Amino acid sequence: MSIDTTTKFAAYSARRQQLMSQMQAQGGGVAVIPTAREWIRNSDNHFPFRHDSHFYYLSGFTEPEAVVVLVATADKQQSILFCREKNPEREIWDGFRFGPEAAAKEFSFDAAYPIASLAEKLPELLSDVHKLFYSAAQEPHIDSQVQQSLQAVRDKGRSGIKAPGITVDVRELIDEMRLFKDAKEIALMQRAASISAEAHARAMRSTKPGKFEYELEAELLYEFRRNGAQAPAYGSIVATGANACILHYQSNQAQIKEGDLVLIDAGCEFDSYASDITRTFPANGKFNPAQKRLYEIVLASQQAALEYARPGSQYMDGHNAAVRVLTQGMLDTGLLDKNKVGSLDDAIASAAFRQFYMHGTGHWLGLDVHDVGDYRTTEKTAEQPAEKTEHIRPYRQLQPGMVITIEPGIYVRPAEGVPQEYWDMGIRIEDDILITTGGHLNLSRDTPKTVAEIEAEMRTR
Ligand code: GLY
Ligand code: MN
Ligand code: MN
Repeated sequence: MSIDTTTKFAAYSARRQQLMSQMQAQGGGVAVIPTAREWIRNSDNHFPFRHDSHFYYLSGFTEPEAVVVLVATADKQQSILFCREKNPEREIWDGFRFGPEAAAKEFSFDAAYPIASLAEKLPELLSDVHKLFYSAAQEPHIDSQVQQSLQAVRDKGRSGIKAPGITVDVRELIDEMRLFKDAKEIALMQRAASISAEAHARAMRSTKPGKFEYELEAELLYEFRRNGAQAPAYGSIVATGANACILHYQSNQAQIKEGDLVLIDAGCEFDSYASDITRTFPANGKFNPAQKRLYEIVLASQQAALEYARPGSQYMDGHNAAVRVLTQGMLDTGLLDKNKVGSLDDAIASAAFRQFYMHGTGHWLGLDVHDVGDYRTTEKTAEQPAEKTEHIRPYRQLQPGMVITIEPGIYVRPAEGVPQEYWDMGIRIEDDILITTGGHLNLSRDTPKTVAEIEAEMRTR
């Protein structure tokens, strides 16, 4: 049965056309976009290969050793793929390779050539071209090929051929495109989030004091893989007790104790799209009063941030709303001493809350877990104070098609003056939020979240 490649890969070729139109609007030129390198783990073993997200966004092609070249001059758009040749011997060891001929057809490129011919073809492609659209210092082996190609074109200067005089970072153009997810991307992100939601519920159900963090990590991975997700989107964090106060905890080796809270920050990658969910729950299935008190504060702060998850909000509105609720909670519980830090507004202005909440409330989410895209507007506005040089550009507004995480937390390390009943609690609640015309859609909505939902899920153990 043949695959209908016109529909399967239409989105990728449409993206290439869109990028080439933008290049033409900037005077035209040639873009060079390589995939990622393969990395050795030890001896002749590699880490699992993960394609470069920009390259993939424009090609759908997942083999290593490949480069997309886009030619966009006044009267022409041409998209070219450089990739590995067929190799029956290597294919016995490593698996199928398309080879240029089949790849051009399957992925709707105008032309495809062996990757080994890039050094020879690139000088031709860069001859008499106005701009080079290339992101330097990302893939050093391609950097050197590009530099050699530019030099080869300059060497032909006496015959009247010119090398591109201007280089533009092509990633900035692609970043902005990637920030707005199309229907196909949203469907993949929903699938990734739904699998991860089920994995979190499974981990809750399998938690018991005496088990080890890695046993819960295994439950997550089992649920990811049995649903067809290719990999975790980032190293799963399974942190019990005081480990939950280590923001990027990775070892997952500790034993879970009665009375601990367990924080799990984990999400799968499905067909290259990430999910990123955090839940915090009691090891024994029931929040004690102090745990519940802090948990409800974090939950209320996430709810406050969600109110701003709609078109027209400024990117930082949600963070600021969350900080306000968290800081009020810190004052109410005595984590922050009113006599020392003053009023709510004082504690926010002095950033006293940072003792217990030291990270931002979210990030863009997409092909990368910390996805690309500018968080600020491109222009400095008139009302921006002239003396404010640290962050010159204001935050941008949320728009439909953007996907963000909302992930407030409270982390209490033992310290003098901090009520002991809260020591060593780390709580974070993180969801994946699609901005829609009417507001937002919580892609990770099926993950148990309220105290009642979590306790009910854990009662089914
Ligand atoms: N899991 C990484 C993050 O939450 O940003
Ligand atoms: Mn996150
Ligand atoms: Mn996370």
